[in-house]
Amino acid sequence: MYLAKMDFQKVIKWAEDLMWAKKKRRLNSLERAILERVWKNYKYQEIADEYRYSKGTVKTVAGNLWKMISEELDEKVNKTNFRAAMERFYISNSKNFVQSNFNQGHIKICGESCHSDETPKNRSPTTPTNSDNIQPEKRHDLTSAPKLRNFHNCTNQLATLKQWILTENTCIVTITGLSGIGKTTLTRQLVADIQDNFDRILWRSHRKFSTLNALKTNLIEFFSPPQPKQNLSIIDYLRFHRCLIILDDFQETLTTGEFVSTYIPEYKNYGKLIKEIARSPHNSCLLLLSWEKPTEIANLETENCHCHTLQLQGLGKSATELLKAKKLTDEDRWLELINLYSSNPLWLNIIVSTIQDLFNGSVAQFLSYSYLFLGDLKPILHEHYQRLSESEKLVMQWLANQEIGGNISSQPPEFSTNNDFLGAIQSLIKRGLIKKNVSKEGSVFTLEPVIKEYVKNQSNS
Ligand SMILES: Nc1ncnc2c1ncn2[C@@H]1O[C@H](COP(=O)(O)OP(=O)(O)OP(=O)(O)O)[C@@H](O)[C@H]1O
Ligand SMILES: [Mg+2]
Repeated sequence: MYLAKMDFQKVIKWAEDLMWAKKKRRLNSLERAILERVWKNYKYQEIADEYRYSKGTVKTVAGNLWKMISEELDEKVNKTNFRAAMERFYISNSKNFVQSNFNQGHIKICGESCHSDETPKNRSPTTPTNSDNIQPEKRHDLTSAPKLRNFHNCTNQLATLKQWILTENTCIVTITGLSGIGKTTLTRQLVADIQDNFDRILWRSHRKFSTLNALKTNLIEFFSPPQPKQNLSIIDYLRFHRCLIILDDFQETLTTGEFVSTYIPEYKNYGKLIKEIARSPHNSCLLLLSWEKPTEIANLETENCHCHTLQLQGLGKSATELLKAKKLTDEDRWLELINLYSSNPLWLNIIVSTIQDLFNGSVAQFLSYSYLFLGDLKPILHEHYQRLSESEKLVMQWLANQEIGGNISSQPPEFSTNNDFLGAIQSLIKRGLIKKNVSKEGSVFTLEPVIKEYVKNQSNS
């Protein structure tokens, strides 16, 4: 009966508390991984393969864990008997297992009334409840973050991000999407919701840093205590504290005029830093906001390195809230307007101003014009278009002139090699500028109406 109740969440919480009591630090990702995998009977070699460590390292880290747990349980614990030992221990301390306090190496049990959190968060900076423990000082710098704004329903995206960051301990989360789609706004809300889980939070935009070294120096200055420790790297700080770093406008580090994902020379070692953050054991998280998905991230995702990407697609039907707030009329035509402008909140806000200024808020009157009005959207679209390589521009122009989309098997004649054509398609997908639909004839690519209109105008000018 007790065994059925004992899930791994309780064990990890107990181990977190123990580590805090003994070493005044939290479990790092490798230690968590070892406990979790050994609980499920994995071999050290399997853990080493999955997390890209040598078997020797896994064995050493595991050995230290068994030593600490053995001392606490007063019996010899190793990978073979870890689960059984914990279950035995749970039976004898079942009522109060989760809320155990550790004091000078001995467990003090508090009363049952202490139970409050049956599903403890994995990523919590204040795991222990022992009043003797020193809580780490929190330092949150959101001076570069925008203010919290009026926000229309993005519940699903927020839930996904929280799941990745708090529950799955994802090391790098990338949020991609076209300009104005809501990356910064969503992230600001996310940070407000999860900030209590982190000791250090730093929000920076790449628009402020012209080189990778300038950014690194700024990060280290922020993480360092008043008397900076010599020779500590960013990874050391990510291990030492539970940090959340938000790097906005990541596309600023990437070149224009080439396929996506080549770094400008001043940022050429960025890929190395990203890989290090993804592969090193720590409990921190890097959040990248970008128009385009960096290649390293795409590769790391296939390696199972705790990286996830959320591609934002617009507000969908909930954009009606935005139109309602602006007091537009002809509600029956709102969805048409929302679809035409891809439910991109920035694009909609701009068009809503035009509708208010020229049509006194009447959506029907605005839509009665036979062409798609771009107006102030043009400079925004231009920023995306001027980043493209010549091959990508050719694909965009080809797609802009297709009635229902371009089939991957009908390569336009301007392309001399398949390589160039497929490379351009792949790059445009990473930029979020083309959409893929699957049909019986194969993949068909399309452009959003606004982008199609813009590209058509480019070809004619
Ligand atoms: N969920 C939302 N509800 C209401 N308004 C929103 C929402 N998301 C974004 N907006 C509005 O849309 C505009 C653009 O949002 P935001 O700056 O977050 O986009 P972005 O993707 O970060 O753009 P960029 O890549 O150019 O930085 C802002 O004015 C913001 O207030
Ligand atoms: Mg932004």
